[in-house]
Amino acid sequence: MYRIRSLALTLGTLALVAGCGGDDRPDGEARPDGSAAASGPSFTAFELEHGVGPITSEVTLAPVDAEKAARGQEVFEFNCEACHMLDERFVGPPLGRVLERRSAAFVMNFILNPEQMAREHPEGQKLLAEYPLVMPFQNISEDEARAIVEYLRTVMESEP
Ligand code: HEC
Repeated sequence: MYRIRSLALTLGTLALVAGCGGDDRPDGEARPDGSAAASGPSFTAFELEHGVGPITSEVTLAPVDAEKAARGQEVFEFNCEACHMLDERFVGPPLGRVLERRSAAFVMNFILNPEQMAREHPEGQKLLAEYPLVMPFQNISEDEARAIVEYLRTVMESEP
């Protein structure tokens, strides 16, 4: 039941994304440090590694918090499974082992700021070339994004 609702939601979002024509990025958008992007956006070393968005420092990972992981699984099943599988390519890349190639902060910034990540960040642009759809923002809170990271850690631990 959840799956069906979430799929319907996604199809709605897809229509919306297609409707925008995919070109709503204002040119020369001001950078967080106040400078204007003259020839495309430039990113700090932190942003290149951990993504651009609300997460601006590294996320420290303690031993897995099972309760948080369970919450993350719920959010993942409702908001992400329509496009992501754990171990196979789907609308988007498989996420079961994403934490092997990306930091927790990168994954959270991708969830919280997917449009800028896909359109402007070098890693996002590479993904966009391979998966030609800009991932929509799903109204996920920072806490929920952190819980999804916790869930993805348990996925990796259960399939070493
Ligand atoms: C409508 C489809 C769609 C939904 C829903 C969606 N994504 Fe995505 N996601 C994508 C696509 C397509 C990409 C590839 C990059 C791009 O074009 O944005 C992507 C990329 C990503 C990446 C980067 C992967 C990498 O290899 O670095 C992460 C992380 C991610 N998604 C997490 C999530 C999570 C978590 C959710 C649920 C909260 C979610 N996505 C919901 C389509 C989706």
